[in-house]
Formats: sequence, structure tokens, C-alpha cells
Amino acid sequence: MELRRVIETRRMTRDFLDAPVDPDLFADIVDLAARAPSAGKTQGWSLLVLSGSARDTFWDLSLPTDRRDTFAWPGLLRAPVVALSFADPDAYVARYAEPDKAHTGLGGGVDNWGAPYWTIDASMATMALLLAAHDAGLGALFFAVFNATSDIRRRFGVPDGLQLLGAVALGWPNTANPARPGVSASRPRRRASDIIHLDHW
Ligand SMILES: Cc1cc2nc3c(=O)[nH]c(=O)nc-3n(C[C@H](O)[C@H](O)[C@H](O)COP(=O)(O)O)c2cc1C
Repeated sequence: MELRRVIETRRMTRDFLDAPVDPDLFADIVDLAARAPSAGKTQGWSLLVLSGSARDTFWDLSLPTDRRDTFAWPGLLRAPVVALSFADPDAYVARYAEPDKAHTGLGGGVDNWGAPYWTIDASMATMALLLAAHDAGLGALFFAVFNATSDIRRRFGVPDGLQLLGAVALGWPNTANPARPGVSASRPRRRASDIIHLDHW
């Protein structure tokens, strides 16, 4: 797909078919996403990819069965893959302590950073993942993981210190019977003229 069309037509998918995603296809879109910019080429982005019973355990922890009757997007739980997106702050501190970056002072610790490059890098890579998935005909939803995060980390052996950005549900979209859009969808999209402060704020 042409880049412009990929960007214009990507929307969050909240209703999936009960159909697997070929691991090679998934690896291919992760390889594409890994081409996102990375500060100092640190590349401190990781995915915890949950499928099958691991995916079911994720949902059991984050959306217990007694809350599912009122959940607006039951088709979200059919997504064959849930990938948790992580950033590694320590990798950036270590990278910026290397000789070519030491002058920045950022190697002294996470508190020295005005902007968390680990979050920025992982966000750019996650966005590239959403676009690559859409380009491949897949659907994806980036969503927050607010509930049971400690339990989820413990259950899946996530190392301490990693920052959890959120989750990407990924699979084949149910285009025949799409779920209703998210509640934020009707908010007007800001235009370039709303965003650009030309020459002075
Ligand atoms: C940081 C972030 C957190 C989000 N969290 C959720 C979420 O928890 N649940 C959800 O359904 N959508 C979530 N979204 C999706 C947004 O609601 C969606 O991107 C926005 O409404 C615009 O829709 P579009 O991406 O389909 O154009 C999140 C998006 C971002 C960037």
C-alpha cells in the first residue's frame, strides 16, 4: 500500500476473526517496526508476545470473566496475539554512558533525562508496528494495561525495570461486522493549522 494510504486508512481494530496469524508474518512486521528511529541506536524496545493459553491468561488477569458481560468489545478477545510493548530505561542510561555520548550527561541515571528517550523509541516502534500490520491487511489495537499489571508482570516473568507502554492486540479484522468505534473516535481530528505555531507560540 502507498504510505499515504496506509496512514490515512489505519484505524484501531476492536473486533477480530478467530484466525491465527502466521508467526513468519508477525516476525516480518516486527522487523519492519524495528526500523523506527532509535536514540543512539539503543533499540531498547521489546515485545512480550502472548498467544494461545498465555493470551487467555492475560485476559483472565486484565479482564476477569465477571466483567466481560458488560465489556463493549467482546471481539477484541478473539485477537490471536496480544503483544505487550516494553521500553528499557537502563539500556539508554548505559548507551549514553558510552564514550561517544558521555558528554550529554545522560549516562548518569534516568533522572538526568528531560525526555524519556526509551518511551519515545518504543512508541515510535509501536506506531511502526501498527502501520506495518495494517499494510499487511491485519488489524491492531494499542490499548492501555491498567489492571493487574503487577500480576501480569509476575506471571510472565517480565524483568524489573522495564517500562510497560501498553498492549497491541493483533489479528485479522472482522470487517463484515465491525465493532462500534471507540468513544474517542468522534472527537474531531486536529488539523495542521491547529498544531503548527508559526514563528512564535
Ligand atoms: C497511548 C494510547 C492509549 C490508548 N488506549 C486505548 C485503550 O485503552 N482502549 C482503546 O480502546 N483504545 C485505546 N487507544 C486508541 C485511541 O482511542 C485511538 O487511537 C483514538 O481514538 C483514534 O482512533 P484511531 O487510532 O482509530 O484513528 C489508545 C491510543 C493510544 C495512543
